[in-house]
Amino acid sequence: MTTLAINNVRPYGEDTTNILIRDGVIAEMGDSRFDAADTIDADGHVLLPGLVDMHVHLREPGREDTETIATGSDAAAKGGFTAVFTMANTQPVIDQPFLAEAVWEKGQAYGKCDVYPVGSITQGLEGKQLTEIGLLARNHVRMFSDDGRCVNDPQLMRRAIEYAKAHDVVLAQHAEDHRMTEGASAHEGANAARLGLRGWPRVAEESIVARDLIMTRDYGGRYHICHASTEGTVALLRWAKEQGIEATAEVTPHHLLLTDAKLETYDGLFRVNPPLREDRDTIALRDALLDGTIDVIATDHAPHGSEDKCVEFEHAKPGMLGLETSLSIVAQVFVESGLADWRFVARVMSERPAEILGLSDQGRPIAVGEPANLTLVDPDAGWTAHGADMASKANNTPYENMNFNACVSATILRGRPTFQR
Ligand code: DOR
Repeated sequence: MTTLAINNVRPYGEDTTNILIRDGVIAEMGDSRFDAADTIDADGHVLLPGLVDMHVHLREPGREDTETIATGSDAAAKGGFTAVFTMANTQPVIDQPFLAEAVWEKGQAYGKCDVYPVGSITQGLEGKQLTEIGLLARNHVRMFSDDGRCVNDPQLMRRAIEYAKAHDVVLAQHAEDHRMTEGASAHEGANAARLGLRGWPRVAEESIVARDLIMTRDYGGRYHICHASTEGTVALLRWAKEQGIEATAEVTPHHLLLTDAKLETYDGLFRVNPPLREDRDTIALRDALLDGTIDVIATDHAPHGSEDKCVEFEHAKPGMLGLETSLSIVAQVFVESGLADWRFVARVMSERPAEILGLSDQGRPIAVGEPANLTLVDPDAGWTAHGADMASKANNTPYENMNFNACVSATILRGRPTFQR
């Protein structure tokens, strides 16, 4: 029998209590401190259900020079995550059951975070032929996405929606009309025009979202929008939810915090897909998350080596690290500003993603009898982000030298600490 006590802790930032975990399950909670084989004195820190990230890139197989399942799991644990979903745009693409199985098994063997493989919608991300959705669904795949690429072909998308519905899996779209974004590296707006960068218009995202929502209305299934980035996407999603269309969406911390004003630096660290947009988008995305139109925060953690980032802006690969900074950003934007409380953070970073993906052991209430997948947060730690300090193998953080208050102080997976500060 293994036991862990977490004493002097505030679930959801509320009343102080003490918690005893036995064999991976919350066994007792109460006013007096518990003795156990391992003890964490939480010093009044906030306790949340373990964070769940629907969207990361751990780059294995193929680009282990930038991240591996092991280093990505370290970064996830340090960021407070107990489960992550790693995208299919690896080399080779996760389009075969044996590859999905290998990702899952490696994550389990390393043991710091549950790493779920995302299967691709089309073979080789080529947008031509569907993968064996049913077979992949029997090999740990709960979500399918060609993320990095959009499924542009409407007939193929229709079939994907129908197959996904039959197998009760989530179909996550990277909404980008590639014909409208050829050669683009930045949001199409005044800043890109002034800086001489070719623009990626909002409509390239919104036109795909509109089409897909209408398809979901008519063909059903569980459609999910990856990294929603525009005010118009929010309006479309709001309309869809009012119609009872079963669509969900995620927003990234960088689209909640940063805008295309950062392009001024021409620093490749700020290149991302979809691009950083304008204040009005950031405001609409925050409001949508607060009122539940957008369901979850997902990091789109995208490690890249310096050879791909420390180059001219237009040649930089799109993507930013996210796992180790997301909780701090969300705390700053929503909790410290007074816009929301820690219950909200638990909802958008743990409960909703676990619900959407059907994880029965994640995003659960902090209560006796529930699995002990937990994240401890010091709301007043005070720290400065540095790429060089990240557990991730890459260091392409767009938050270099930024100061944050809240910080993950421990992560617990099935009753075992996977990270402690
Ligand atoms: O910025 C991005 N990077 N967006 C994506 O959709 C893919 C990702 C990557 O794989 O680097």
